[in-house]
Amino acid sequence: MGFKNIVILTGAGISADSGLATFRDSGGLWDQYKLTDIATPEAFHKDPILVWKFYSLRRIQAAKAKPNLAHISLVEFARKNPEKSVTLITQNVDVLHLRADLNEALPPLTMHGNLHESRCSQCEEVYIDDFSYFNEAGDYAPTQLNLCPISLRAAPNYLHHYHLKFQSFLPLSPCCGKLLRPNIVWFGEYPMHMQRIQTELKKCDLFISIGTSGNVYPAAGFLQETRARGAKTVCLNKEEIIQSEYCDEFIQGRAIEIVPRYLAKLT
Ligand code: APR
Repeated sequence: MGFKNIVILTGAGISADSGLATFRDSGGLWDQYKLTDIATPEAFHKDPILVWKFYSLRRIQAAKAKPNLAHISLVEFARKNPEKSVTLITQNVDVLHLRADLNEALPPLTMHGNLHESRCSQCEEVYIDDFSYFNEAGDYAPTQLNLCPISLRAAPNYLHHYHLKFQSFLPLSPCCGKLLRPNIVWFGEYPMHMQRIQTELKKCDLFISIGTSGNVYPAAGFLQETRARGAKTVCLNKEEIIQSEYCDEFIQGRAIEIVPRYLAKLT
């Protein structure tokens, strides 16, 4: 089983055991919010305060969550197998992969962006931003969170809030003085890191999908794509997924239990 080029794709299911809601399970985020109200460029243009209330709440929740054994076992696997090329692609924006990997053994390709980043809505300059602007009750309350590794507060693009300007409760970018927006890929926008992702998918001989329902493209197409190129495909998920016909192996269960067990077998 000497796989040399392993690509791992994760979705919200890997963070469920850290207490974060997924999107499409019952009670998930898309049960609570209409995604067209908060996760599209048009929604931000129409009601930026509502969008910032939603992402402030998700920053608060993500800051309270901790990486779980599934996040940690991925990093350990990469560290213990230096002779293998291991690439982590995540659809998650919750920063838990980053916080599980302080020595950067497995830097995630965050194809849907990051909750701990904001960007200028005019020039797209990206800032590390660990502030929530509204509290859980939806009141204006800029608060610094422990959302990202503390070391990032020394990063050149860290957003220091003491000199930030606001326009009707919303943060303005230091570069252009225009609205800051969450550095999240919204519906209708192009995912990040796709060139690097395609390069890794083309050469992978083992593709592992963890905790994703396979509802959103292009990530939902990676299974079929890698299998068509001859890679072995493995799905680890709590329930059957849409593309299960493209899974050579399906392991059902909670990520916190099945991921460490599967990776130990692979090592
Ligand atoms: N362990 C393993 N799998 C789990 C667990 C768990 N503890 N809990 C839930 N799951 C599974 C669910 O069965 C489901 O198949 O995780 C999957 C989560 O699916 P979604 O909620 O659709 O989340 P995801 O696939 O990551 O969504 C992809 O959709 O809305 C967009 O941008 C958003 O990145 C997101 C994308």
